[in-house]
Amino acid sequence: MLVHRVALVAIALLACSFPPAFGQTNRATFPKAFDRYVLYATYDRGFAKEEAFALPETLALAKAGKPLPPGTQLVLGIWRARQLAEYFVMEKGVNWGADFPADVRTGDWHFQQFDTTRQVMRTAFAERCQSCHSSQSRDDYLFTIDRMRTYIP
Ligand code: HEC
Repeated sequence: MLVHRVALVAIALLACSFPPAFGQTNRATFPKAFDRYVLYATYDRGFAKEEAFALPETLALAKAGKPLPPGTQLVLGIWRARQLAEYFVMEKGVNWGADFPADVRTGDWHFQQFDTTRQVMRTAFAERCQSCHSSQSRDDYLFTIDRMRTYIP
């Protein structure tokens, strides 16, 4: 146990004296124009229900098969026990991918978790978001692209 604790302290000290060059950056913000966002997909995950929101212009681009430009923000509202619990946001910016090493980069998307008052919340870390969404590299790191394409206003 002592060895364990010494190792943990050593790791903590290392982390403080050598802050990682990557992985701390997160520029994703909650969209200011959220009242213009439309609900394009819902998911029932049993323990959680999810609502996916995008701007109409984002959905129009997806439908036309065009790339989503820098400035695009996507929102996933997460409900638990019939209450809105948090928001997940993805935002794309010009060359934002350069903030991360190539092996964890998710294109130019950054990921962030927000509480229901739209303030940054950090119980789910962006590395986890990125590692899961990286499986979708062929679809610009999106899981809901099919639902965007088939959305009818
Ligand atoms: C274990 C995998 C996993 C993790 C971790 C994860 N996501 Fe997702 N995400 C998904 C899936 C799957 C969907 C599609 C909705 C569904 O099927 O429930 C999704 C959808 C989304 C969407 C809607 C746009 C899209 O990608 O199609 C946003 C925005 C999003 N996630 C943001 C986040 C953020 C922010 C985090 C971290 C705080 C995160 N996700 C963590 C799997 C994940």
